[in-house]
This record gives sequence, C-alpha cells and structure tokens, in this order.
Amino acid sequence: MKTENTVWHEQHINQAQRAQIKSQKPCLLWFTGLSGSGKSTIANAVDAKLFAKGQHTYLLDGDNVRHGLNGDLSFSDEDRIENIRRISEVAKLFVDAGLIVSTAFISPFATDRQMAREKLSSGEFIEVFIDTPIEICEQRDPKGLYKKARAGEIKDFTGIDSTYDIPSTPEVHVKTADLSIEQCADQIIAYLEKNNYIG
Ligand code: PPS
Repeated sequence: MKTENTVWHEQHINQAQRAQIKSQKPCLLWFTGLSGSGKSTIANAVDAKLFAKGQHTYLLDGDNVRHGLNGDLSFSDEDRIENIRRISEVAKLFVDAGLIVSTAFISPFATDRQMAREKLSSGEFIEVFIDTPIEICEQRDPKGLYKKARAGEIKDFTGIDSTYDIPSTPEVHVKTADLSIEQCADQIIAYLEKNNYIG
C-alpha cells in the first residue's frame, strides 16, 4: 500500500529520449470489443506491421495476461475493473519506456476505458473499437464460449449476461464485418501515420 513515505523519483532519461531512438511517438492502442470480435488477431497484425516498419512495440493480450499478472481475477464486474486497472498501469509504463503499445482486452465498461485514458497524457491513448456484431462473434465462436454461455455453463458472459458499453467516440472505429484482417490492420496503421505517431 502507498503511504506518505512512498516518494516519486524523477528519472534521468525521459520518455522523449527513449522514443527518439526509434523516431516514433509513444502511444497506447487500446483495442476493445466483444469476445471473438477479432481484437487479438487484429492487434497482432498491427503489431507485426509496426515491427516490420522497424518500430519498437509491445502487445499485452487478454488471455495471456490472465494467465500471469491477472491470474487471480474472475469475470465478475469487480474483477474486470481490477483487470483493466492493472493493465492500464502496466501499459502506461511501457508507453513511458517509449514504445507503441497495443492492449487487447474486452474492457467492457466505458468508465474503465476512460480511467485508462486519463492515466496517459493527451494524445497518447488511442481507443480502437473492434466493431463486430454479436451475431458474427457467436457464429465464429472460436473457443466455443458463446455456446457454453447460452447453455448456462458460463455465467457473466459479455454480451449475453454481462454488459458491453459501446464506445461513443473511439479514435479508430473498425467495422470488421466487410473487411479482411489485413484491411482492418491497415486502417489502424493509416491512423498512426496520419497523426504522426510513425513516419
Ligand atoms: S475483460 O472483460 O476485459 O476483463 O476480459 P479479458 O481480460 O479481455 O478476457 C476476455 C477473454 O476471456 C475469455 N472469457 C470470457 N470473456 C467474457 N466473459 C466471460 N465470462 C469469459 N470467460 C472467459 C474469453 O476467451 C475472452 O477472450 P477474447 O479474446 O476476448 O475472445
């Protein structure tokens, strides 16, 4: 727990100096969307494209983080809030290290996404809404989870018996239904180029 004896230390090398090495503007691509919407797949494609361009990146992915750092958390509202709080703190550290960071979590609550945004400086947080209708997510059902949720075998499943707040003003709105993964990734890369995050 933080006490009055916990003091913040300024560091000698700052974020701008770290980012200069790669000539990039550090930022956080915050992917949000339903389970099965394609968040991880598209975030991975974007990460690979950035890497191929020589950018310094890092990707924090939902299922993987829940195996380690957040292995103690369930899918209750309370634990999802804590999940997103921890991820946003970790992502902030990576952005401070000068990287272009992608996070791929459902992050269903608008208040938590706003909380994550407010941890970062202006222009650093880029909300990427992976907009795939639930009917399509359910048809794909890559992990068979919708089937289990409909059968009552999984409780609190996002979009079925747990809320997903649709982003109202995302920086990037990717409507996946009529696009390939490549086209979705290119839309996000184009945003980064247009707004001078990368050259
Ligand atoms: S959250 O809401 O942001 O805390 O969720 P996240 O950490 O991204 O984890 C989502 C993945 O966990 C699996 N899973 C569930 N999702 C939603 N609701 C319930 N109840 C649930 N139980 C397990 C599911 O595979 C999600 O993976 P993605 O990649 O989103 O499909």
